[in-house]
Amino acid sequence: MAVSEDRLMEFVYKFVGDLGATMAAGGVVLGDRLGLYRALAAGPLRPQELAERTATAPRYVEEWLRGQAAGGYVQYDGTTGEYSLTEEQAFALTDPDGPIFAPGAFQLALGALKAEPRIVEAFRTGDGFGWHQHDQDVFLGCERFFRPGYSANLVAAWLPALDGVEDALRRGIRVADVGCGHGASTLLMARAYPRSTFTGSDYHHDSVERARKRAAEAGLNGQVRFDTASAQTFEGGPYDLVTTFDALHDMGDPLGAARHVREQLAADGTWMIVEPAAGPTVTDNLNPVGRVYYSFSAFLCVPSALSQEGGYSLGAQAGEEPVRRLATDAGFTRFRRVAETPFNHVYEARP
Ligand SMILES: C[S@@+](CC[C@H](N)C(=O)[O-])C[C@H]1O[C@@H](n2cnc3c(N)ncnc32)[C@H](O)[C@@H]1O
Repeated sequence: MAVSEDRLMEFVYKFVGDLGATMAAGGVVLGDRLGLYRALAAGPLRPQELAERTATAPRYVEEWLRGQAAGGYVQYDGTTGEYSLTEEQAFALTDPDGPIFAPGAFQLALGALKAEPRIVEAFRTGDGFGWHQHDQDVFLGCERFFRPGYSANLVAAWLPALDGVEDALRRGIRVADVGCGHGASTLLMARAYPRSTFTGSDYHHDSVERARKRAAEAGLNGQVRFDTASAQTFEGGPYDLVTTFDALHDMGDPLGAARHVREQLAADGTWMIVEPAAGPTVTDNLNPVGRVYYSFSAFLCVPSALSQEGGYSLGAQAGEEPVRRLATDAGFTRFRRVAETPFNHVYEARP
């Protein structure tokens, strides 16, 4: 088959765009860590002025700004030599508590990529690489990547979509948040429903320690506790509500986890399962969101699951049917999708 020059050039442009984005990921994390975006959000600045305000070296800042402007993350005015952020850029780049926070996503990506030599090896051997073996930026980036979506949707839309759960949370129930990581979801729920009590758990002890620190800082220690425990072994039931946020597909024995959730759940309880949004077939997921998830999945989710007992991996783009099957096989008799965003599907499973 002859190489078409047009199609080849189309692919070259695509690859150059991706190469720029790959390197720019470092620039986004750097801009966040050094406070460059936050300083720029206050108003237009020349490189020297931005460097002064952020106690950084002007020549580096100048080069960073040029790359940022070329990538569309920063505006450049060639007549004044000033750089600035649009309202939208400032919105997405400067507020870790807002509904969109791009630097958290890039921190997660760069953290995951630090494991590249180990993942290459895992591809050869088929061995796993545990969540806990990754760089700190995976844990922090994960929290900062997911929290904006939870802040925007969890209390406003997802919990109200479950049958009778919101009222029960207001009255006061017992909740377990399984695979809670740094506890972002646990603490959001605790703040919203002060009469309910929450037990977060995760097999990764360092994440649990960090979650405890976050709870103490938020003054929620009396209402929230965090335990180091796997989804197959967490205790303290019966719970009225069990939640798993973007964690089921990271587990090597998701059926064992689902069965254990069923055992720890009250007879009329609810299991809320938040998973990455995905269509039913691979073809349905061949889009920008699918690309993000499949790529993260190859570095984080599949290696995590394959590192655990069970050795089964759903992957981050499994879609609804495999999750429904797991819930059904674990003894849940009712299952439905109750909410969705471009990034997440939310399922309700009931005994
Ligand atoms: C993608 S992170 C999500 C963390 C958190 N739920 C959030 O949304 O920010 C997946 C989490 O699942 C945890 N995890 C993986 N396998 C687990 C297992 N078998 N039991 C409990 N937690 C597990 C990891 O330690 C990690 O914290």
